[in-house]
Amino acid sequence: MALTVKLGSQSDEVTLSGRHAVSSKAYDMVRMTELFRLAEQCDRLVGDARLTRLLSNKTVATVFFENSTRTRVSFELAVKRFGATHVHLSADGSSVKKGETLEDTLGTLLALGCDALVMRHPENGVAMWAAQYVGDAASVLNGGDGTHDHPSQGLLDSLTLYRHFNGELAGKKIAIVGDALHSRVIRSNLQLLNQWPMDVHVCGPTTLVPDSFADLGCTVHHDLAPALKDADAVMALRIQHERQDAGLIESVEAYHQEFGLTTERLAQYAKPDAPVLHPGPANRGVEITDELADGPRSLIRNQVAHGVLIRQALLIDCLIPEKIPEILSW
Ligand code: CP
Repeated sequence: MALTVKLGSQSDEVTLSGRHAVSSKAYDMVRMTELFRLAEQCDRLVGDARLTRLLSNKTVATVFFENSTRTRVSFELAVKRFGATHVHLSADGSSVKKGETLEDTLGTLLALGCDALVMRHPENGVAMWAAQYVGDAASVLNGGDGTHDHPSQGLLDSLTLYRHFNGELAGKKIAIVGDALHSRVIRSNLQLLNQWPMDVHVCGPTTLVPDSFADLGCTVHHDLAPALKDADAVMALRIQHERQDAGLIESVEAYHQEFGLTTERLAQYAKPDAPVLHPGPANRGVEITDELADGPRSLIRNQVAHGVLIRQALLIDCLIPEKIPEILSW
């Protein structure tokens, strides 16, 4: 697949025409709160005829060049709950495999009448590039690009914490433990959690949590105990085996011994009943134990359910922003 434009993180600064959801930098506390109010309406009014036909004249394509369970299925459910037409394109089954360029793929989807393109891609900056490319001809929603950004995941994580703490996030300490280096989720979360602002601590071995992460707005730890100390909430990040260069961790067993989240460690260091989150997919027994992931502190299934609500809110925000006041009044 040929990409004629390469974009780095500075691409987040570009001005876009049209309405897109490509960068976590677009969401401050006010915008997040409005999205959360829309998400609450989607939850409260599930099955209501006003929602089930809300986007009946729209077509949404999910365009995935990387594997996904949660993001793909929750976007699909969000589309279907609004009565929109849904089509899915994955690199494996598409003409990308025959050498078609991304420009031609997007142009084809536009010519077929797609109003929104939900994109997942392994390369940093592709969603922003696509939003520039399509302009106001369609909305682009970033379903995760490389190690760069995953705005809808960051937003659903904030919604999960917002609901758990009844909207009182300012000053709460969250410890995020794991493979920050290869994680797009943490970059989205550092951007969004700092809007409330939460007190964000990131922990892992120096190879996976470089000290330079402090520049993104967090306290960096290479020991678990001070990171977890008095934490109000804890989030595990996946050890991304598919993105690991050899030697970044000694072994998964050694990683678990030093940084794995367990019921005992949370009980020892974090605040009582501090919830535990994981964006998924999880390596059970590596970054988190079964007992903790499935236990009473776990908000992991809540995160998944909130994924549909946040993606419904983003579809409204991108496709029918003029209807937001009316929807909030229902
Ligand atoms: N959290 C997340 O993006 O999961 P998927 O890769 O399953 O979509």
